[in-house]
Amino acid sequence: MSTKLAVIAGDGIGPEVVREALKVLDAVEGVYHPQVTVEMLPYGADHFLATGETLPPAEMRRLGQDVDAILVGALGDPRVPGNEHARDILLGMRFQLDLYVNERPARLFDARLTPLKGKRPSDIDLMIFRENTEGLYVAVGGTFKHGTPDEIAIAEELNTRKGVERIIRYAFAWAAARGKTKVTMADKANAIPAHALWRRVFEAVGSEHPEIRRETRYIDALAMDLVRTPEAFEVIVTGNLFGDILSDLASALVGGLGLAPSANRNPSGVTMYEPVHGSAPPLAGKDVANPMAAILTLAMMLTDRGAAAAGAAVERAVREAIAHGVGTPDVGGTLGTRAVGDWIAERVRRG
Ligand code: NAD
Ligand code: IPM
Ligand code: MN
Repeated sequence: MSTKLAVIAGDGIGPEVVREALKVLDAVEGVYHPQVTVEMLPYGADHFLATGETLPPAEMRRLGQDVDAILVGALGDPRVPGNEHARDILLGMRFQLDLYVNERPARLFDARLTPLKGKRPSDIDLMIFRENTEGLYVAVGGTFKHGTPDEIAIAEELNTRKGVERIIRYAFAWAAARGKTKVTMADKANAIPAHALWRRVFEAVGSEHPEIRRETRYIDALAMDLVRTPEAFEVIVTGNLFGDILSDLASALVGGLGLAPSANRNPSGVTMYEPVHGSAPPLAGKDVANPMAAILTLAMMLTDRGAAAAGAAVERAVREAIAHGVGTPDVGGTLGTRAVGDWIAERVRRG
C-alpha cells in the first residue's frame, strides 16, 4: 500500500521533531519499502504572520480527499497570543475532516521513566480515547461587554448522541479486537447533568460487549487513581477536554510528553498523526526537544498503513534507545534532538 503523507511541521519544536521523524522514515524506506511520498506544507505561525493565511479551505478539502495521512509537529507561537492560527489549522482539521477519534496511548517502556514508586512496564499500558470534535472545544458561546467589569464569557459544551456514541463504540470495538477486559469512562455526571447522556450511551453500547467490564468514573477521582493505581486501567474513553488533560497526565506516568504519540482518526477517511506535546517555545531552536514522541507517532502511521513490520522496527529502535540510556535530557539522557534521531535511524537501518 502506498501512502501520500502531508506534513505540517508547524511551530516551535515542531519542525525539529518532525525532521527527526522524517529521518527515521528515510531509514525505514531503505529496509522495509513502505512507499511513502512526503509533501511538506508551510502552514504555521510564520506563514500566518507573513500572509494572514492559516489553512486555506481548498487545502483542507485536498487533505480530506487526496491525502492518506497527515503528520503534524506542533502549532502554537507566542507571536500569535490568541492562538487563532493553531485553532484554525489543528482544530480545523479535527472538526472539518471529522477526525472524531483521538487515540492516545500511554505505555511504560522502562521502569526508570516513571515517577511512580515501584511501577513496572507491565503496570502501565493504557489507551485513552478522547472525543475530538465536540465538547467544550466547539467555540459555541461568546463574550459580551468585553473588557468591562460586567464582562461575560460563555463557552457551551456540546454533546451529541451521535458524537458520544461513535467514540464509545470505537473504544469498545478497539478493546474487543485486542482482548482487553475493561473499558472505563470518565465524566462529571454528578455536577453536569448533560453527562448523563454519556452514561446512558456507555451502558447501551457497552452491553453489546458482555465480555468487557464497564466502569464509569468521575473525572476527578479517576485522575487521582490514574496516579495511584495506573495498573487498574486498560482503555479510557472520555470527552474532549477531559481527554486533553488526562493524556498529558498519562504521559507523565510513562516518561513525559517527549514520549507520547497520538492519532486523530476519521475511521472512514484520513488520519492526522501528531505527538501529544505542543510547540514548547522555550525549547525551540536549542536541539534539546525529545523527538521520540514524533518518531513513535510515525510508527503508528506506518503500522496503520499496512507497514506493520516497519512500525514495529521503529518502536523497537526507540525502546532500545531508552534501554541504552540514549535520549534527550527530559528522559535522563545527555544527547540532543538530532543525535537521538540519528541513533534511532541508524538502529532502524541495521534492520
Ligand atoms: P507543551 O506540550 O509545548 O510543553 C509542556 C511541557 O512539556 C514543557 O515543559 C515542555 O518543555 C515539555 N515538552 C513538550 N514537548 C517536549 C519534547 N518533545 N521534549 C522535551 N520536553 C517537551 O505545552 P505548553 O507549553 O502548554 O504549550 C506551548 C504551545 O504549544 C502553546 O501554544 C500550546 O497551545 C501549543 N500546543 C500545541 C499542541 C499541538 O499542536 N498538538 C499541543 C499542546 C500544546
Ligand atoms: C492537544 C493540544 C490542543 C488541544 C491545543 C493546542 C488546542 O493541547 O492536542 O492536546 O487542546 O487539543
Ligand atoms: Mn493537549
